[in-house]
Amino acid sequence: MSLSGKKILIAVSGGIAAYKIHFLIRDFVKKGAEIQVIMTPDAENFVTKLSISTLSKKPVYTDFYSDNGTWNSHVEMALWADVMIVTPCTANTLAKMVHGMCDNLVIATYMSAKCPVFIAPAMDLDMYAHPSTKKNLELAESFKHIIIPAENGELASGLIGQGRMAEPETIAKRIEDFFNSTIEKTLEGKTVLITAGPTYEALDPVRFIGNHSSGKMGFSLAEEASKRGAKVILISGPSSQIINDKNVELHKVTSAKEMLAKVFEFYDTIDIGIASAAVADYAPKEVAKEKIKKNDDNPTIELIKNPDILKTMGEKKTHQFLVGFALETQNEEENAKGKLEKKNLDMIVLNSLRDEGAGFKNDTNKIKIFTKTGKKEFTLKSKEDVAKDILDFVEVQLLK
Ligand code: C5P
Repeated sequence: MSLSGKKILIAVSGGIAAYKIHFLIRDFVKKGAEIQVIMTPDAENFVTKLSISTLSKKPVYTDFYSDNGTWNSHVEMALWADVMIVTPCTANTLAKMVHGMCDNLVIATYMSAKCPVFIAPAMDLDMYAHPSTKKNLELAESFKHIIIPAENGELASGLIGQGRMAEPETIAKRIEDFFNSTIEKTLEGKTVLITAGPTYEALDPVRFIGNHSSGKMGFSLAEEASKRGAKVILISGPSSQIINDKNVELHKVTSAKEMLAKVFEFYDTIDIGIASAAVADYAPKEVAKEKIKKNDDNPTIELIKNPDILKTMGEKKTHQFLVGFALETQNEEENAKGKLEKKNLDMIVLNSLRDEGAGFKNDTNKIKIFTKTGKKEFTLKSKEDVAKDILDFVEVQLLK
């Protein structure tokens, strides 16, 4: 999941659960979010500015002024944020928030914020159950803030009950779900089939011919299409990528023949077909029943051509919009345009192994897109962002 470019303001108040913030920040940063952390003065008793700023890659503020005499503008930080999360939110900070007791940087920033505010309370069980906390949480909800409830379990006091701050994964999931829900459902009602990953062509029961494709590009496309409301059929060769999305139907295959058969189980029902798989062009003619033994000869392997899945899709095209990939090392544009014609495609995505950071093993890619009449060039981006560019382009073509 990508939080690329999302601006997240994290306000930490003084509770023992503050140590969990490190994990939350690391997760957000990994997913591409920009993080600004502010803390109440008391939070510094639990975590250090240094540990947090190292992870968030930005200075952490606890006061309106820094030691070097600069003004830490609560208004600027508040208006910069796409979301604000107060975590852990102590009983004291919660009370100050809902009653406008603006006596520190966290509350002043909160009161200047126009973005959605998430609150993850953390306190001892009796404080959490106290009528004043309950009332304050109700007030926060009436302000349209989103409460991520405290969980049941062992508390710092040694008591057991509700009051533990939600785990960082739970908080991260709520934030990701929030950002997903803001995405326009531009592919609602469409079925998108995506091939991904490598294929493995067996030589014997233990060996195969394969390639270095990670499957990341295809999985990123599947995730992005699903966020836009599409039903996604993802047909992947062996890959360590995982996907957890109820709108994505994942079918795992091994060889090109299996991939072809799986594609044509669904072909008539799809609106868009995207072939990002690195399908092996050849397979061994014979698959040995037993493991091939080592001997003194130099063996030769006879290969036969694999089916070209995308070309077959192009030949049988009725209404489907077809997108191919071309991974080239020379005469890139000419080869890509040739494949667009030969495979009867509507669009082809070219990535050149000559571009640093592009290609199958990287987390980034640099692409050019060709249609029969147009061309668009993109900069080096994360594969999640490349998936967005590709689907934006598909959507524009579908509207034509
Ligand atoms: O011809 P080439 O392998 O370069 O074409 C690449 C495009 O064709 C990719 O979209 C790839 O997924 C698809 N392809 C396929 N079946 C093959 C070979 C390639 O679907 N056997």
